[in-house]
Parts: sequence; structure tokens; C-alpha cells
Amino acid sequence: MVLYLKYRPQKLAELDITSVRDKLVGTLASSYRPHAYLFSGPKGTGKTSAARIIAKALNCLNPKEQALTGSTKKYNEPCNKCENCREILSGRHMDIIEIDAASNRGIDEIRDLKEKIRLAPVSAEFKVYIIDEVHMLTNEAFNALLKTLEEPPAHAVFILATTEPDKLPETILSRCVVFRFHKANIDEVIHSLKRVVGGEKLKIDDEILSLIARHADGSFRDATKILEQVIGENKITLQDVSYLLGKGTITPENFLILLGKKDINQLLQSISLMGERGSDFRLFVTTILNVLHEILLDLHKVKQSDLSADIRKIYAGNGVIQAIRMFSRVYTDLKFASRPELPLETAVVEWCEGKDIK
Ligand SMILES: Nc1ncnc2c1ncn2[C@@H]1O[C@H](COP(=O)(O)OP(=O)(O)O)[C@@H](O)[C@H]1O
Ligand SMILES: [Mg+2]
Ligand SMILES: [Zn+2]
Repeated sequence: MVLYLKYRPQKLAELDITSVRDKLVGTLASSYRPHAYLFSGPKGTGKTSAARIIAKALNCLNPKEQALTGSTKKYNEPCNKCENCREILSGRHMDIIEIDAASNRGIDEIRDLKEKIRLAPVSAEFKVYIIDEVHMLTNEAFNALLKTLEEPPAHAVFILATTEPDKLPETILSRCVVFRFHKANIDEVIHSLKRVVGGEKLKIDDEILSLIARHADGSFRDATKILEQVIGENKITLQDVSYLLGKGTITPENFLILLGKKDINQLLQSISLMGERGSDFRLFVTTILNVLHEILLDLHKVKQSDLSADIRKIYAGNGVIQAIRMFSRVYTDLKFASRPELPLETAVVEWCEGKDIK
């Protein structure tokens, strides 16, 4: 099984975004039981995992009572062994219904939900409806959902997840307890990687984990995928990981500076070096795009970054947009390239020779 699925968090304690974990634990420990949760935030940050954990915590037959730190209150962790937990784990539990609103915009599912929600659960205490990408529902489906949210039967719990909370009608938002997931910070990602490293009985330096975490851009899923690649290729020295990530040859920042200087020769040399050292070009291009993304936000005063003045100057104005377009295309082209260097080489030459990049 791929690592990021194998190490999906299975209990509250394993949710590494601490702010969300604390708020969830606090909610479960209180006597108030929300009938609707909303999990908002970027992908790969644990929304689906958390939803399934809540479903288990509510229905576990043999829950492990945990003390809430700094309080006399208690909350339940799922045991992950009882029949309910196991069926939820394998996605077979009749009372835990997962709906992906992105796939057909939820029309049939919400209709079905409306019909069946009043029926008592089969074997769980609570029927849990997990609706992923809920912002994709059609208006009709939203209205139906709203009706059920207004008067839910006591045995129903809704967990709505979305990457785009701004697209949700206020009427839905106001009926949910909102949990804001956010990009994980470096420490949170490292913490999650350590669970994988421990579980797989590997020995990997903190320095390497930190390098991977910096490349994952706040996504646990991406971090675990990079780690998997590192292990798969038997590359667990810092040197090798750096090469794999495109470092050790040239940093994304320096690459962007060379691009600004239109130094074709140096650019092609560094690409060829990366090729020789077996760097992963897709990862390299991803890091470049992350830098450009930072520049874009910085230029528009959304978020300050600590990028050099050189870079800012080169990519001011339309430059950053053109570069983003170019590297996004390289990223797609890499999927089909017969030689991994080629898409980057051609793009770089075209850029330096001043052809219009579309
Ligand atoms: N808190 C976490 N700690 C460690 N790994 C996590 C965490 N949350 C998610 N992951 C990893 O990321 C993957 C994606 O998580 P998921 O819950 O599907 O995120 P989302 O629904 O927000 O896209 C999981 O399979 C798991 O490996
Ligand atoms: Mg998800
Ligand atoms: Zn259980």
C-alpha cells in the first residue's frame, strides 16, 4: 500500500495540525454535540482523515477515554479494533455515508439522503454523512441539504469538507461548527513524517526530513509522497535527497536569476547536471512554481516573502505571470517527455531568445 494511505491518521492524537486537533478534541470533550461540522482548508491537510476519525469516535464500541490536557474533561479516541471501527476503516459501514460532491454534483445522493436520513442507523449510534467538496453541490442539492441541516434527526451527524469555503452559502455555514485546516507548518509536517519513518523502521536524519518538509508546501500527502520516493530510490543521504529535489545542483532561486539574465549557457549546463545526477525534474519545477507563487503574492502585498531583491526586480510586473505560465507548461509536458530534460531545456531557450511564451 502506498505510504500516504498506510499512514493516514487513525485517531485524534495523530492529527498533526495542532490547532485543528485541539479544537476537535475540545469539541468532543464538551457536552455540546454539534450535528454539523465544516472542515475547510487546502488539500492534503487531513480533512477526510479527520472526518473518518470523528465517525469512529462517535460510534466506537470500545472507546479509549482520554483526559483533555489542562482540564478534568474527557474525550473518546476510537479503538480502531471493534466492529464499527473496522467497518468504517474499510469504508464498508452502512451508517457512514461518504458523498463526493465533485463527482456528479450530488443530485442523486442528496435526494437519497433526504429519503433515508430519518431511518434509524443500522448498527451505529450515529449516522454520519461525510460530504466532500461540498461547495460543488448544485443549488437544488444545497437547498435539500439545508432543509436537513435545519431539522436533522438526533441520530444524524454531518461532516462537510471543502477546499473553497467562500463558495458556500451563508445559510449552510451558519449551521456548522467550522474547523479551519491550514497548510501544515514545517514542524507539523516533520512530526507526521516521523510517524511514517518509525512505522517503516527506517533511519532518516532530521535534516533530510526538514528538507522534504520544506518541499511539501504544507501538504502531508505531498510530504509523504516525497518520502516514499526517497526510500524507493534508496536515497537517504542528505546529498542524494538534495539532488533528487533538484538542489545540490542549483537552487530554484538561482535558476530564476539566471533566467532573468537570459544566460542560456549556464541554464542548460545546470539542467544537464541535474539530468546526470538523476534529479526529479517535476519536483524541481514544483519548487520553482512555489517560489513564483510567493513572488506573485509578495508583489501584490498579500504575503511578504524573504526573497532577494534581485528576484523581485526580475519578476516584477508581467514577468512573474509569464514565468508561471511557462513552468506550468513544462510541468505538464514532463508527463509525456521522452527525455526528462527536454521540456525544461526548450522552455528555457525559448524564454531567453525572447519568443512569446503562451
Ligand atoms: N494530520 C496528518 N498527519 C499526518 N499525515 C496526514 C495528516 N493528515 C493527512 N495526512 C496524510 O495526507 C493524506 C491526505 O489526507 P486527507 O485526509 O485525505 O486530506 P484532505 O481530505 O484534506 O485532502 C493522508 O492519506 C495522510 O497520509
Ligand atoms: Mg479529502
Ligand atoms: Zn472501536
